[in-house]
Amino acid sequence: MATVARIGVLTGGGDAPGLNAVIRAVVKAASNAGIEVIGLEDSFDGLLDPSRTRVLTPRDVTGILRLGGTILGTSNRGNPFEYPLADNGKADYSERVVGTFQKMKLDALVVIGGDGTLQIAHQFYLMGIPVVCVPKTIDNDIWGTTSCFGFDTAVSFAADAIDRLHTTAEAHRRIMVVELMGRYAGWIALHAGVAGGADVILIPEIPYDLDKVIQRLRERERFGARFSIVVVAEGAKPVGGDFTRLEGASRGHVERLGGVGGVVARLLQEKTGKETRSVVLGHLQRGGAPTAFDRVLATRFGGKAIELLTRGVFGRMVANNPPDIVPIPLGDVVGKTKTVPLDYDLLKTARAIGVALGD
Ligand code: F6P
Repeated sequence: MATVARIGVLTGGGDAPGLNAVIRAVVKAASNAGIEVIGLEDSFDGLLDPSRTRVLTPRDVTGILRLGGTILGTSNRGNPFEYPLADNGKADYSERVVGTFQKMKLDALVVIGGDGTLQIAHQFYLMGIPVVCVPKTIDNDIWGTTSCFGFDTAVSFAADAIDRLHTTAEAHRRIMVVELMGRYAGWIALHAGVAGGADVILIPEIPYDLDKVIQRLRERERFGARFSIVVVAEGAKPVGGDFTRLEGASRGHVERLGGVGGVVARLLQEKTGKETRSVVLGHLQRGGAPTAFDRVLATRFGGKAIELLTRGVFGRMVANNPPDIVPIPLGDVVGKTKTVPLDYDLLKTARAIGVALGD
């Protein structure tokens, strides 16, 4: 087994609280194992332009455990296999990335990212680069891991926001609609909605019928509740309808969802006659300090990644499989989305306590 002496680390895709905690764990664990770490800036761009790289020592990562964002920068627009060019075309820079990896005398890469970044890492693994991946997303939609760091922070922030909406909703006897992130999965909306005591939770996995939602709101009025909280995942869609998009997919980047909260709020006001307001939490869910849970998970992921590469285990993603962190083959993970299963016990519990799910 070849010795690993020098590795690169990068963060790709949208940021998530806990990225810095992973970088810190990677650098500290690697350093203690006698491995030098090179930080690659702005996702794979750091392997296209060697000036965007820097040595990371334990001293460089001191104090970053609690910081949101990523000290390395990130991007969800620089896929080296389809790199967007200024003239609107795209280029395949993958050989250039492999060349830089070799010129920099790197022995392996730790890639921290979501589904898009994991797919790119898998392609490079198939081209001969030894990679170990760490799953990252607030959406919690990566297949093969029960949780990703960033999710708990996003849910905690959203639950706090829902608490705040309760007081103003009650004071004005309004319906408050809050739109949460999550792309095509309803994990954030379901967990934050339950944690915040929402009356209605609409998720992509269950297309909604607005009449059913209104029925629930009327029932609440009948028993004396004069306000309601409606949580809507950005990927929620009506029965037989489509997603609400802010921007369609274009070269090098995926479509952007958003706006369904406003649509639902307008229709609820029209159909119930009750004053309704909507709020989109947006990128606030991705900002700020990671929770203690996310710091611990991120640290465990980073430590496990280094353990795997010192053992010569590559082409794997570290995954949370309580009580263990386990390696799973990248090929089993990429191209899949972990959505909320319809038999998930929290869905059943939400129904059992009277939360309307729009069906
Ligand atoms: O995947 C994380 C996420 O925050 C999604 O929940 C959201 O749809 C998307 O990223 C937003 O992406 P951007 O930062 O490109 O607007």
